[in-house]
Amino acid sequence: MVQQYDAIAVRDADIEQVVGPYREQVEMPALLRALGPVGGARVLDVGCGSGAYVRALRRRGASQVVGVDVSAPMIAEARRAEEREPLGVRYEVHDLAALPVLGEFSAAIAVAVLHYADSRRTLARMCERVCANLAPSGRLLALVGNPGLPTGVPQANGFVVHRPAHVRDGDAYTISVPTVPATTLTVHHWACGTLEDVLTSSGFADVTWEPLPGTADGDGGAAPVNLLLSARKE
Ligand SMILES: C[S@@+](CC[C@H](N)C(=O)[O-])C[C@H]1O[C@@H](n2cnc3c(N)ncnc32)[C@H](O)[C@@H]1O
Repeated sequence: MVQQYDAIAVRDADIEQVVGPYREQVEMPALLRALGPVGGARVLDVGCGSGAYVRALRRRGASQVVGVDVSAPMIAEARRAEEREPLGVRYEVHDLAALPVLGEFSAAIAVAVLHYADSRRTLARMCERVCANLAPSGRLLALVGNPGLPTGVPQANGFVVHRPAHVRDGDAYTISVPTVPATTLTVHHWACGTLEDVLTSSGFADVTWEPLPGTADGDGGAAPVNLLLSARKE
């Protein structure tokens, strides 16, 4: 099946120019801080795209990092980066909702991927398959679209969210990425409480929200584009 990101992969460099600075300055430091030391850890990155987090985790000393993504062209981009600068990371093409057990990972990250689930059943399958790949007490950190962002207003990373009023769980909405021409992503709305419930019924406990700059616990700046969710395998 052709995936949304198959077409987007050819413009990965353009998109990176837009999202890169916010990711490097805000989101990646927050996620890595929440994850804690990764020296010797085995980490799975689901929805890894072209592998920015995979490479960062390996450079920070993770002993094994595996990135998976449903889009073969995105994985090809990631593998080209590995060929240019070999770090000893591995990439595989998988739909997260049908992810086989690839190992017993100490941690998993899911950055801007859970909001591609188009039904609660798919969201649950995604969470269950991550859980199946974690060691006991293994941790999941997920950056998920901030459901409270105002519609039609450019966000800190340039994204503009177009969400219908009175949106309900699973409803599709679009995000415009200010590349030239603009790139439109279709994602799905999941309320924070729904994400917590689905994770809890998918084998996770200790579901909490980690502070990000811009939140009440953060630096008081602009609203964060994504929120950081933490959960531990029961
Ligand atoms: C916004 S990009 C984020 C990429 C990467 N996590 C990052 O932050 O640089 C979302 C990625 O999720 C992938 N994706 C969407 N649905 C997926 C699914 N069902 N299984 C695996 N990957 C998926 C897309 O192909 C895309 O590469």
